[in-house]
Amino acid sequence: MTMKNLRSVMIILAIALLSINAMAQAVHPAVCVLYPTQGNKVTGTVKFTQVPGGVNVVADLQGLTKGKHGIHIHECGDCTAPDGTSAGGHFNPKTMTHGSPMDAMRHEGDMGNIEADESGNAHLEYVDKTLSFEGDASIIGRSVIVHQNEDDLKTQPTGNAGPRIACGVIGIAK
Ligand code: CU
Ligand code: ZN
Repeated sequence: MTMKNLRSVMIILAIALLSINAMAQAVHPAVCVLYPTQGNKVTGTVKFTQVPGGVNVVADLQGLTKGKHGIHIHECGDCTAPDGTSAGGHFNPKTMTHGSPMDAMRHEGDMGNIEADESGNAHLEYVDKTLSFEGDASIIGRSVIVHQNEDDLKTQPTGNAGPRIACGVIGIAK
């Protein structure tokens, strides 16, 4: 091999290594746009962004009744059923029991409650140490469901949060 050839090979290798590195670091945020199920008027967004130590969750909803409402990631990204039941149960890839987002024993999809004010607006923000964008436990392509009632964080397997009032699919954000 001549020196000139060797240099070309080295340059190509360096470019290849750089692009593999860039791909590994390109973790996109995820977003879910929530639409009301039949007979409801809840809308909103949930954003998921990778941060050191977990995934930052920011939810902003409108059209709720005052008080706490259960909010979860459900197994299927399918909001076709008028009552949201097509989304399946709580996303639970590690076969755990229902709990709060701060519990060690919890469904992957357990995000607890979001509390609405007098005007029906609600904001939730926390860093979730468990949620993932990769592999079998990836939340991409799943759904977010908002419930009519408060999640009691202990009733199995649903938290007794009642009917599903909003549903949206989690997708890759810009
Ligand atoms: Cu739910
Ligand atoms: Zn659960």
